[in-house]
Amino acid sequence: MTDYLIAPSILSADFARLGEEVDNVLKSGADIVHFDVMDNHYVPNLTIGPLVCEALRKHGVTADIDVHLMVKPVDRIVPDFAAAGATYITFHPEASEHIDRTLQLIRNEGCKAGLVFNPATPLSHLDYVMDKIDMILVMSVNPGFGGQSFIPAAMDKLRECKQRIDASGYDIRLEIDGGVKAENIREVAETGCDTFVAGSGIFGKGVATDANGYDTILKAFRAELAKVGR
Ligand code: DX5
Ligand code: ZN
Repeated sequence: MTDYLIAPSILSADFARLGEEVDNVLKSGADIVHFDVMDNHYVPNLTIGPLVCEALRKHGVTADIDVHLMVKPVDRIVPDFAAAGATYITFHPEASEHIDRTLQLIRNEGCKAGLVFNPATPLSHLDYVMDKIDMILVMSVNPGFGGQSFIPAAMDKLRECKQRIDASGYDIRLEIDGGVKAENIREVAETGCDTFVAGSGIFGKGVATDANGYDTILKAFRAELAKVGR
C-alpha cells in the first residue's frame, strides 16, 4: 500500500498563531508541513523565510518540513534553510542557472532535494537528474497564491511523472500542490501521486473545524485516500 502523506500548506494558516496552527494540524493527523517561500521576484508575493522555519523547530515541531522555494536565485538561500531545519527543499528549474548543481547542494546540506514543475513547464528537466531527486512536485496552479482552482492538465503530468519514477527505479515521492480538496484528492491519488499539499482545503474559510483542531477535515482526506484503487 502506498504511504500517503498529507502536507498542509501553512500559507493559509493564521500566521499570528502559527506554532499553534502547526501543532493542531499535526495532532489531527497531518504528516508533513508544507512551507511556501515566496520572494516577490520569482513570484508576485512575499511570504516567509528561514527564520520562521527555525522558529517552528524551536517551538517543538519534529515533523518533516517541506520547503517549497519560489525564489530566484535559489542557491544562496539553501544552506540557510538547511540550518533552519528543513527536511525537503524543492525549487523551480526556471529559477536556477544550474539545476544539477542546486540539487547536489541541497543534498550536500543534508536535505532531500526536489524539482517543482509549473503548469507549463516541461518534465524534460528531469532527464539527466533522476538520481539526484527525492521529490517531484507538480503544480496544479500557477505559483504565488493559495486558494486558486486546480488546473486539470496536472493529472496527465502526474501520470507521466509516475511512469518516469517507476522507470528510474529510484525512491522518489510524487507531490501535488494547488487546489487540492477533499473532493478531488482521491482522483489525484489515482494517478500515482503520494504526497498532497493542501492550503485553503485545510485551513480555509468554510472548511469544517472542530474542538480538536483539524480532525474532521483530515479524516475526510484519509477516507477519500482509503478508497483509492477500489
Ligand atoms: C502556491 C503554493 C501552494 C498553496 C496551495 O504557490 O505553492 O502551496 O499554498 O494552496 P491551495 O491548497 O489553497 O491551492
Ligand atoms: Zn507550495
